Amino acid sequence: MSVSLEETSQSLKKENQSRTKIFAVAGPKGGVGKSTIAANLAIALANMGKSVVIADLDLGAANLHALFGIKDTEHSLDDFILKKVTNLADIVTATEVRNLKFICGGSQIPNIANMPFQQKKKLINHLMKLESDFLIIDLGAGSSYNVLDFSFIAHKGLFVTTPEVTSLMNLYSFMKSSVFRRLASHLKAEESYDVLELIEKAKNADANPHLNTMEKLFDEAEKIDASAVRSSKNILSGFVPHIIINRVETRGDANVGNVLRELTHRYLSVESKVLANLPEDGEVKKSVNKMKPVLIDNPSSGFSGAIRKLAESLAME
Ligand SMILES: Nc1ncnc2c1ncn2[C@@H]1O[C@H](COP(=O)(O)OP(=O)(O)OP(=O)(O)O)[C@@H](O)[C@H]1O
Ligand SMILES: [Mg+2]
Repeated sequence: MSVSLEETSQSLKKENQSRTKIFAVAGPKGGVGKSTIAANLAIALANMGKSVVIADLDLGAANLHALFGIKDTEHSLDDFILKKVTNLADIVTATEVRNLKFICGGSQIPNIANMPFQQKKKLINHLMKLESDFLIIDLGAGSSYNVLDFSFIAHKGLFVTTPEVTSLMNLYSFMKSSVFRRLASHLKAEESYDVLELIEKAKNADANPHLNTMEKLFDEAEKIDASAVRSSKNILSGFVPHIIINRVETRGDANVGNVLRELTHRYLSVESKVLANLPEDGEVKKSVNKMKPVLIDNPSSGFSGAIRKLAESLAME
């Protein structure tokens, strides 16, 4: 029986008994604020006296260093991937923020965004061995297998969207892909190929309306392999997306998180949580233009205040 990446990451998580809490920030393309939130959240946690590493895993489109005003980094993920250094810890660099260290994303290697499984496993392994209170990962956009696989190692996946319908729908499909990828990987490892085939069919809900909710899918799968359904439900219950709505302007905007939560519950049987509503704030753009995170440039802005509150609630859990 082969072992799925999901299970590999779970066992790595168990092996990695260090105190490091991993938060992965993910979501759709189009500047919804993933990197801004990752950077400022990392600073807020560091300002609380926690040791924090922030890693730019937006493979192929790394730009987190720019948010920190870092122009040239001596080392980046490229050095690790190209084996110029043996340990990921060797490319962790200090930042101007006390308690905060940084892993600069790679960009020199063609097709790094589709790195092979073994390479990915090695990177995940090294990431999990970093010693800090928190590891924040900027995962970048979309639902490529890499984004999904790196999100598996996180203790919490922070899923960012704006209130715009297109961005919401993109986030919903990202969560759906994430669920299907987890289940497919698990069922492959279980060699439950008939249920796997149903999962593949269910991806196209329009063509297969009888499988258009996870509940219907499980009912159907139950007839084939009840034990695979039980273990799949178990996998799903461990997946709790933490939703962040960014660029909120109105009361209606503030409610979209609940709409998304309802959708994941009804169609995916996934219990997500709405973690925060972060306000639209002109200070964010100003700070980006100065290449200085807003929490440093304007700590009293509305966005900075909301990020601090988010950091406090995450540090308490
Ligand atoms: N709360 C906010 N208020 C106002 N502007 C914001 C806010 N959040 C983000 N922005 C603006 O959106 C821009 C894009 O944000 P960011 O780079 O963090 O998005 P991203 O999701 O990481 O994008 P990409 O998919 O390209 O990596 C920022 O430069 C900033 O100008
Ligand atoms: Mg980004």
